[in-house]
Amino acid sequence: MLCLGIETSCDETALALVRNGQCVESVLATQMDIHALFGGVVPELASREHYRFVGALYDELMRRSGLSLQDVDVIAVTRGPGLLGALLVGIAFGKGLALAGNKPLVAVNHLHAHLLAAGLEQKLDYPLLGLLVSGGHTHIYRLDGPDSLVLLGRTLDDAAGEACDKFAKMMGLPYPGGVLLDRLAQRGTPDVHLFPRPYTHVENLDFSFSGLKTAALVYLEAHPGLREEGRLIREQGIDVASPALCNVCASYMLAVAETLSIKMHRALEQKNSAGINGIIVAGGVAANTQVRAAMQNLADTVGKPLLLPSRFLCTDNAVMVAHAGELLAERGFGHDLSFSAIPRGQRIPDDKGRLERTLYPDFLPCR
Ligand code: KG4
Ligand code: ZN
Repeated sequence: MLCLGIETSCDETALALVRNGQCVESVLATQMDIHALFGGVVPELASREHYRFVGALYDELMRRSGLSLQDVDVIAVTRGPGLLGALLVGIAFGKGLALAGNKPLVAVNHLHAHLLAAGLEQKLDYPLLGLLVSGGHTHIYRLDGPDSLVLLGRTLDDAAGEACDKFAKMMGLPYPGGVLLDRLAQRGTPDVHLFPRPYTHVENLDFSFSGLKTAALVYLEAHPGLREEGRLIREQGIDVASPALCNVCASYMLAVAETLSIKMHRALEQKNSAGINGIIVAGGVAANTQVRAAMQNLADTVGKPLLLPSRFLCTDNAVMVAHAGELLAERGFGHDLSFSAIPRGQRIPDDKGRLERTLYPDFLPCR
């Protein structure tokens, strides 16, 4: 089955063709430079840029692959979570193609697609425990299959990626902060005691990164030189970074990584995790060096395999959307032209209001 994936949930316009779990071709246009001028993603600009690029990227994808719409068996498009206007551009484009080519459509949950991306590189032996760490989400899931993901824990405030981006911003570093923080941290030595592992004293699987952000703010106020240096790095690049600044970045990232690892360890000890065959870590923050190391450490400790997508598949892309789409279509799922974006996701609490199941309530049989 050849699946065309379309991803426009945030600031990356991406399209890809995937056949039976293998990427045939993919194209991606990032808007990073535009949003960097404003220090963060500007939703209206994001929609306009997706609109400007999506058609040209589709042509480029087909030109590079030597394929045409006739060859496509199913079209998968991200329906959320994400920015409403941005999602609607991809959805409208996908519907247009489906209508023009008389092709079946499947709407994909962006977070599920991140997690299922691990299956493009390794065989997924369900059930699995999944950690999704991105710019907008920090979720722990139990995965029983490509269409059955149970949410076990989530962040109560900032997502892990947001905690990285905001700390970088506090230091005067340019947007997007997470990747830069990673590069600076790799040049430093972490101090385990400098920052807290926030909310880990609470015996549940939820996260809260606000305590870490406050601790970092207090530290930066006591060390104003670091912020001046951050602004210098913005102008002159990371080679002017001092060892002290790199050490602070390494300490902060270690706090994020260990916090994620502590909660994942707890998740593995719960009865919900009985029979778990492995751990998936996905989303933009899964590209982080210290997060990857902490998760490998955890996997080694508990003796479970770690399924970590390569860095390209961690950050936003359409290969993961096409792959999730083909998995769902293979199982008979699909949508008609009436579906719309779900910008904030769709969660269904269980009777205790704690465990949540993220479903696709409006699936129709594939045509
Ligand atoms: O999954 P993603 O590309 O987009 C969303 O769905 O949100 O994740 C983006 C987030 C941003 O917060 C970005 O700073 C963070 O992932 N990120 C990183 C790294 N690469 C991306 N954070 C830390 N280290 C990285 N290497
Ligand atoms: Zn994402």
